[in-house]
Amino acid sequence: MTHTQAVVFDLYGTLYDVHSVVQQCNASYPGQGMQISELWRQKQLEYTWLRSLMGQYVPFEQATHDALVYTCRHLKLGLDEPTRAALCNAYLNLSPYPEVPAALQQLNDMGLPLAILSNGSVFSIDSVVRHSGLQKHFAHLLSVERVGVFKPDPRVYTLACQALGLAPPQILFVSSNAWDAAGARHFGFRVCWVNRRGGAFDELGATPHAVAGGLDELPALIGAASQGSPAS
Ligand code: LAC
Repeated sequence: MTHTQAVVFDLYGTLYDVHSVVQQCNASYPGQGMQISELWRQKQLEYTWLRSLMGQYVPFEQATHDALVYTCRHLKLGLDEPTRAALCNAYLNLSPYPEVPAALQQLNDMGLPLAILSNGSVFSIDSVVRHSGLQKHFAHLLSVERVGVFKPDPRVYTLACQALGLAPPQILFVSSNAWDAAGARHFGFRVCWVNRRGGAFDELGATPHAVAGGLDELPALIGAASQGSPAS
C-alpha cells in the first residue's frame, strides 16, 4: 500500500455494525431479529443499486425505510407506526465494531487524514457518527447526496478525491462490502477489503490490494507498505 496519503472508509458494515439493529428487531419480533436484519440490509442495498440504475435517487433513509416495509411484508409481519419508527431510528444509532475507535486513533496518530464516504445521507452519516462520538477522528464526512446516485457509481468515489485534493492511487479506500471494494478498485483507489467473517470476495473483475480481518490491522499494513515491504 505505497503512497497512502489519506484513508477513506465506507460506513455501513465497515465502521459500524448494521446488525446492531437485531436487538431492536428482536424486541418487536422475538426470535426473528437476525432474519429481519439480514433481509432488510440486503433489500436496502438492492434498492440503492436499482434506484441508481433507474435514475430515481432517494435519500438513504428512504431506501432503508422502504426495505423494512418490504422485509416485513415478505415475512408476513405487521409493521405499526411506532415499530416502524423505532426500527428506522435504530439505523441512526448503530454501534461501531469494537476495534474501530482505537484503530482510528492510531491512524490519526500516523498523521493520515481520515474520511467517510457513504451511501448514507448527510443526516444519516452525521447521526451515526455523532451518536458514537467518533466524529473527532474524521476530516470529512462525505455523502452521495451531492451527486444524487449511490456507490458503486464512479461519480461517488470522485467526491473523496475532490474533498481531499488527492489522486485515486494516493487514497486507501477501506470497505467490508466486497461490491464497494470492487467499485473502488475499478475507480483507481488503493483498496483494502475488511473481511471480518471470512467470506468470499465478489466476482466483479477487480480484486483488493489487501485484505484485513479488522481495522486494527490497518496501521501495520500502511506502515509496512510505506517502508517498502510488499504489503499489498
Ligand atoms: C455505505 C454502505 C453502502 O456506507 O455500506 O456506503
